[in-house]
Amino acid sequence: MKKIFQEDSKVLITTSHNSTEKAVQVAKKLSFEYGIPYYNRRHLNEKIREENIDFYYVVDNNLNLSIRIGNSRLFFHPGISKIRMENFKREGKDYLLDAIRPSQEDIIYDATFGLGMDAIFMAHFVKKIVGTEVSTHIYRIVSHGLKNYDSKEEWINNAIKKIDLYNEDMKKFISKQPAKAFDIVYCDPMFENPIYKSSSLNPIRPFANYDSIDDDIVEKLLRIARKRVVIKSLEKDRLLDKLSTKFDRIILSRKNGLIFACIDLDVDKEDK
Ligand SMILES: C[S@@+](CC[C@H](N)C(=O)[O-])C[C@H]1O[C@@H](n2cnc3c(N)ncnc32)[C@H](O)[C@@H]1O
Repeated sequence: MKKIFQEDSKVLITTSHNSTEKAVQVAKKLSFEYGIPYYNRRHLNEKIREENIDFYYVVDNNLNLSIRIGNSRLFFHPGISKIRMENFKREGKDYLLDAIRPSQEDIIYDATFGLGMDAIFMAHFVKKIVGTEVSTHIYRIVSHGLKNYDSKEEWINNAIKKIDLYNEDMKKFISKQPAKAFDIVYCDPMFENPIYKSSSLNPIRPFANYDSIDDDIVEKLLRIARKRVVIKSLEKDRLLDKLSTKFDRIILSRKNGLIFACIDLDVDKEDK
């Protein structure tokens, strides 16, 4: 596995080359907010060498924020949600929607937000999404993106407006929530056997938290759910075998081996 960068990594923030005054202003503002040094792009290479910088943030002239790490770039883009919506409109089916069974009044808690690709898609079908992402670096890129992204597709702009994201560990966040605080609770931890090939998650891998979930966490997720808890995994991973939870529905996508394991709570069974 690639090196995992922790919160105490040596980082800085800069702009792209030939930056506008506005980009410099935003980079300096974020430097203050994040508590990391700002450096003029022209002096970047010597700074990286002198100070053993692990990776750096860049504000470009469109005021988008990204992380450069070697040759790869972590940036926010809801591209996959767009493709997914097109597929859903064409095929009238989506495994995640089959699992969560959304309704317009629902509030979803997405415990493991990542790039928010699932969240943006789900948000279109519900009232609100509350998300947690424990990695500060992923959180910064995604929350900046959620605030600034302007899509040509109105459904994406509307979906993004329904999302509240917090930089917090789900365990800590859950412990502060009252019972049945959310209609649906969704949890998508990092896979044990990642699909590296053309995975849109590749850029988050160096920053992500790889902790798995156990029975205790599932119990805690169940406490704050009103209708259901959905856990995403891979057919070839052993996560579901390790849990003693009894799942009501297992939805498997044979195309990519994705599994959505669902626990439907009584309230929802009664509603039907
Ligand atoms: C597989 S990714 C989620 C992908 C996401 N569903 C999407 O559509 O982009 C898992 C994410 O959960 C985060 N994560 C892992 N453990 C967490 C925890 N205890 N609390 C909050 N986030 C966590 C990881 O850092 C990673 O970004």
